[in-house]
Amino acid sequence: MVDFVGGTRRAKAGGRVLVVDDEPSMLDALHKVLSRAGYQVTCLDGLEAAKNALVEGEFELVLTDLYLGDSDLGYEIAATASGLQPRVPVILLTGRPSFDSACEALRSQVHEILVKPMEPEALLSVCRNTIQAAAMEQTQRLLEGQNRVLATVVPRMIEAKDPTTCGHSERVVGYAEKLAQLCGVEEEDRDALRLAALLHDIGKVGIPEEILCKQGPLDPKEREVINTHPRMGYEILESLAESDKVRDWVYQHHERWDGKGYPQGLGEEDVALPGRILVLAEVYDALAEERSYKPAWPVPKIIGFFREQAGSHFDPELAGIVANGLENEGKGFFAPEAGMLF
Ligand SMILES: [Fe+2]
Repeated sequence: MVDFVGGTRRAKAGGRVLVVDDEPSMLDALHKVLSRAGYQVTCLDGLEAAKNALVEGEFELVLTDLYLGDSDLGYEIAATASGLQPRVPVILLTGRPSFDSACEALRSQVHEILVKPMEPEALLSVCRNTIQAAAMEQTQRLLEGQNRVLATVVPRMIEAKDPTTCGHSERVVGYAEKLAQLCGVEEEDRDALRLAALLHDIGKVGIPEEILCKQGPLDPKEREVINTHPRMGYEILESLAESDKVRDWVYQHHERWDGKGYPQGLGEEDVALPGRILVLAEVYDALAEERSYKPAWPVPKIIGFFREQAGSHFDPELAGIVANGLENEGKGFFAPEAGMLF
């Protein structure tokens, strides 16, 4: 039964908060503190009513007592809240903290546990931080989703313009990931590298088709135009909500170890290891696949090329890893793993 249902007040700041507690005095106190701080507060004293309100309403936060009546537990509210889209963060209030309750709270995806009694300022600070963190998490999730869609659509746009490179970007993702794993590149950088590999030629969308798809050799002016694509890619990716590393490695994917690459002429470790991996993965695909101007190279010829270009075109250590891998396993060295892309 509901002993007290606080009305909703116009918010000065904050958002909508659902407060659930079976002690009327606690419910009253929480209502006063939160509504004074500008939150729109809905107070309920029972599990079922709270779960229904949560599903029907649009709350930014739930504050719930751990024990509701004799058997109802606040965890169940947390389970309901974590199943919503977007997920509503839950702060659990308890006067009797225990190891078991902390474990259960973790399992139920509770964001915070507060021990009663608590100072109003401490409570408000936790509420504010929890709402902010959940909002940031939600924004991040949305942006990542959009970026993933873009990241799979854009390479296909480039390949539609230049069908001779069909599947190139996706294959380069696989080669780069394989090398990154062998070199011990950290998970976070491997994520960024996969995206950079997928998008490395995005700047080609700005290259005229008659140059991009020209049969036969390019003249110096046409070569100059083609060579603008790493910079164009860098500029196109300016608003990408991922790390700057993705942009940097796209920008650097035609640099060389000896500094004779383009567009910046960076040398050796001026390009970070994941960027150097991308350089090599990109070239490997160009050699191993048939192109309009050449057949696919056989493995021994590719091995010879990497040995010869170690320390000039490529990071010598990386070139050695690839040459040895191809020698031992043939093209199976770069065999794709299912579901590797993202
Ligand atoms: Fe390129």
